[in-house]
Amino acid sequence: MPSETLTITDNRTGREYTLPIVDGTIRAPDLRQISAAEGDGGLMSYDPAFLNTASCRSAITFIDGDRGILRYRGYPIEQVAEHATFLETAYLLLEGEMPTSEQLGRWEEDVRNHTYVHQNVKKFLEGFRYDAHPMGMLLGAVGALSTFYPDAKDIADPANRYLQRVRLMAKMPTIAAYIFRHSRGLPYVLPQNELSYIGNFVNMTFAIGGSHQPNLILQRALEVLLILHADHEQNCSSSAVRGVGSSQVDPFSAVSAGIAALYGPLHGGANEAVLRMLDEIGDKRNIPGFIEQVKTGHGRLMGFGHRVYKSYDPRAKLIKQVADDVFAETGLNPKLEIALELERIALEDDYFVSRKLYPNVDFYSGLIYQAMGFPTDYFTVLFALGRLPGWIAQWEEMLQDPEQKISRPRQVYIGADKRDLPPREQR
Ligand code: ACO
Repeated sequence: MPSETLTITDNRTGREYTLPIVDGTIRAPDLRQISAAEGDGGLMSYDPAFLNTASCRSAITFIDGDRGILRYRGYPIEQVAEHATFLETAYLLLEGEMPTSEQLGRWEEDVRNHTYVHQNVKKFLEGFRYDAHPMGMLLGAVGALSTFYPDAKDIADPANRYLQRVRLMAKMPTIAAYIFRHSRGLPYVLPQNELSYIGNFVNMTFAIGGSHQPNLILQRALEVLLILHADHEQNCSSSAVRGVGSSQVDPFSAVSAGIAALYGPLHGGANEAVLRMLDEIGDKRNIPGFIEQVKTGHGRLMGFGHRVYKSYDPRAKLIKQVADDVFAETGLNPKLEIALELERIALEDDYFVSRKLYPNVDFYSGLIYQAMGFPTDYFTVLFALGRLPGWIAQWEEMLQDPEQKISRPRQVYIGADKRDLPPREQR
């Protein structure tokens, strides 16, 4: 028995149980021995939405929400965002260490060699209506990749997993760019593999007449945003990837489940809501009235507050710097001026201060994406591009964890007791 234990008295029976505490947790299956009657199956824990249940042991991302800390494989997000590229960050999340220059060269080369998608993927995308939501298209297209690469089913082979990892990282930007072009009725632009990962994506997205004048400041800003979104431990979409992946399905199908989870407004859609709110406010003069409305419980200040961060979201601080760089290039716009003023007032207002409501990552990201020329309903696709390495890293960690099995929560049944089906004429 470990030195840290928990002693529980079951007041139904008077019996006492001592459970080990490891890493600040008790194991829910240890509760099963606590039984009040023969055949009751033992005690369960009840935790809708997993508010206080660890579903895995993970070495990928560390978050301390009270102290505003986020680290990838131990490295502070501030250092990663300043000194790494997105592909280096992906390598770090996937492999656990920063790549040497040789490893990085191979990784970049492998990804570069897989950026093309099968012509039928293009045809598949052409089948969507002109106004199809970009996230619906992305989740359909990534799921469909599993039919193009049936070898991906061999998830037990590390070399095979590496190949699928490369395919996902290489093809998602191509698909995302095609989706952007589809919604505008523009011809698809093929990958140009002499460009960088971000440069290639931007070129496939924005090139007109075969050319695009790259703006390296905006490209680096986009890269930092992708880095900041690359992983956030057991969030809704990563849990979806793990849960679906635990059935041992191929990684394209598992990642498309992550995209589906991210599609929801409570997860990936908050930056859209910030822009809608700024539109509603319309003018700086309306801010005090809007704040009063929020304080009296009518609506929320979108882009403020976080379930985990109860101090400044470390990513929001970095995004503010990115916003400064981007707006120095693109110029201020009325929406940004409203946002800056809103933030200034809210950070001084006791309602927000006492509830520890600070700007979150979404407060500025939507404004930045908009300034870069992305339409609002496309923002979540950019989030998905950023989160992809995290999803794959979480999926592979799950597969290699000997304690993991197919994900299968329990339930507390509250329905009818056994009853007999009435004959059809009596129903
Ligand atoms: N504006 C005004 N009041 C707020 C806000 C807000 N944005 N967020 C929380 N509050 C208030 C609540 O009304 C509550 O007040 P009360 O104690 O007087 O009842 C208190 O702060 C605590 O709020 P909870 O809802 O319990 O906090 P929770 O941790 O469950 O919610 C959430 C976190 C959902 C992010 C919330 O802060 C929110 O709705 N924010 C706006 C939406 C948003 O920006 N979401 C993006 C999150 S980041 C991401 O997903 C990548």
